[in-house]
Amino acid sequence: MEKKKYYITTPIYYPSGSFHVGTCYCTLMADTIARYKRLRGYDVFFMTGTDEHGQKIQEKAEIAGKTPKEYVDDIVADAKELWKDLGINYDKYMRTTDEDHKAAVQKIFEILYKKGDIYLGSYEGLYCTPCESFWTETQAKDGKCPDCGRDVKLVKEESYFFRLSKYQDRLLKYYEEHPEFLEPLNRKNEMIKNFFEKGLEDLCVSRTTIDWGIQVPFDKKHVVYVWLDALTNYITGLGYLGVDDTKFKKYWPADLHLVGKEIFRFHSIIWPAILMALDLPLPKKIFGHGWLVVDGQKISKSFGNYKDPRIYIKATSVDTLRYYLLREVTFGQDGNFSEDLFIEKSNSDLSNDLGNLVSRVTAMVQKYNDGVIKAKNSDFVEEYDEDLINLASNLLDKVEVKMDHLKINEAISEVWEVISKANKYIDLSMPWILAKQEKFERLNNVLYNLVETIRIITVSLQAFMIEIPSKIFEQIGVQKEYQTWDSGKVFGLLKVGTVVVKGENLFPRIENGKELFKVEEGNEKVEEVEEYITIDDLDKVKLKVGQIKNVQKVEKADKLYKLTVDLGNETRTIVSGLVKYYKEEELIGKQVVVVANLKPAKLRGIESQGMLLAAGDEDVVKLLVLDNNVGDLENGSNIH
Ligand code: MSP
Repeated sequence: MEKKKYYITTPIYYPSGSFHVGTCYCTLMADTIARYKRLRGYDVFFMTGTDEHGQKIQEKAEIAGKTPKEYVDDIVADAKELWKDLGINYDKYMRTTDEDHKAAVQKIFEILYKKGDIYLGSYEGLYCTPCESFWTETQAKDGKCPDCGRDVKLVKEESYFFRLSKYQDRLLKYYEEHPEFLEPLNRKNEMIKNFFEKGLEDLCVSRTTIDWGIQVPFDKKHVVYVWLDALTNYITGLGYLGVDDTKFKKYWPADLHLVGKEIFRFHSIIWPAILMALDLPLPKKIFGHGWLVVDGQKISKSFGNYKDPRIYIKATSVDTLRYYLLREVTFGQDGNFSEDLFIEKSNSDLSNDLGNLVSRVTAMVQKYNDGVIKAKNSDFVEEYDEDLINLASNLLDKVEVKMDHLKINEAISEVWEVISKANKYIDLSMPWILAKQEKFERLNNVLYNLVETIRIITVSLQAFMIEIPSKIFEQIGVQKEYQTWDSGKVFGLLKVGTVVVKGENLFPRIENGKELFKVEEGNEKVEEVEEYITIDDLDKVKLKVGQIKNVQKVEKADKLYKLTVDLGNETRTIVSGLVKYYKEEELIGKQVVVVANLKPAKLRGIESQGMLLAAGDEDVVKLLVLDNNVGDLENGSNIH
């Protein structure tokens, strides 16, 4: 029988810096769903990747002194490493700089243009560069981007537009007829309220002021504006309009696009409209998840509140990080990433509940039965036998219901319910007493029930964890055929004679608290945090042209000069550590940049009334000096 297909995607990420746990969250969710579907026997195609064009990348590359392609290549290489470390098992890594994607986007642009769904117009609007989004005046209250809060700027240019307005009614009808298309419901309703009530506006799909992008094939001064380039990745990645479109034919429409809440609207309005314009079927579901936050603030490169996820993996294990992220964030909502909670959960849920269950049970089989499973359960002896066996037998069905509704955290809770029941079962059945009283038949049954329950638990864990399940299967001696999803639905498949060995501690307790996550100097990839300041912030710094008139060494201070600096209508004394870098006579007469409104500070008893701007580090320091033409600019001139 042909396998049922399942096509799942994550958003393609901006490669504008290292990825963080927030970025990992969506990819991990997608990977978990893909694993689960594979376990259920689906033919899964899981795609993730990077969205590599646009002004932001161009600017970042310039700052890094690289070409945009060099810049993104380096980040993509790092991202792929990270996905490997996290056990992300994707089938395709999509890059919008791939030649086949670029060619397909050009074809799409042409098709839509010929159809009249793309037309040339002129754009005047408010643009947020970091978010690469246009906003209306009402949206950008006080000139701030509603997504990131940074300043938007007014831009006016000739642009191509996609006739989004034309699809308004069709979209609304589609949402109505397909209630399962957009989830969660509250996001869907909010989106309809915010964007449809005012009426959809046509969408700018090209820019003339950016070079780093896909050229519009029939008008080379335009490049395709990011969202058309980015969203179409979901079909071009399958070979749509390419040389080989077998994957497209096989896997499209997507079964699930998983996206973060801030890009839900692009996926639920623009993307379906583009597909309608291309006469293609729509994805089956678009799901907008929440964010990982720290103290209520989204984890983000811009906010600087993140660490490299590998720190957590190194300090604990990849499955500890996976467990925390998948369990602690409630379906569709924001979730807190707290190192304290991470430790607490690791110790309680992983070390105490799961780790202890496996180690206690394997140790008992070893101790009382020389590591051999000796007999299956006979009839239920106690009510708690029945409780445990029923719960374990139904586990996989319950996990399926939750997973099919994307309630990953609830699916994991079902597994932990069985884990905790099994731990209680040990306390109730007291195998050590049975051994002491030589009730061997009952002891064998109890041990069988426990190991078989662990087998079923482990079958389910294969969707959520990547290293632990095989370690447990090894300890309880389960062959491949009893590791499958369907075998997990039947209690009693474990063979008599199975050999159990007590293995390594699966989840050692974290004893040294958050110290564990401290980043050793030089070990962390230090990301340059994008901290924006506004023009108003910059205006607070008063920079003036000053001329050095006199230079004296400061007594008993090897490094310091006392400088007399002429600021036009006033003279300042400024103490500066330039001895190592300039001789006195080299400084005299130079016109330099003075921070004129810096609060005075006493250095070696001398009041320093400002600061000179200089560049460099310990070895080389150079003053910022005006272009050598003394007299051209008056001392005291403002620097803007
Ligand atoms: N390039 C676009 C997506 C184009 S898809 C056709 C983009 N990239 S992004 O890198 O800014 O974000 C990618 C995804 O990461 C988004 O879904 C976003 O919600 C997610 N996350 C970024 N930070 C996050 C958290 N702190 N928590 C959870 N997800 C987060 O948007």
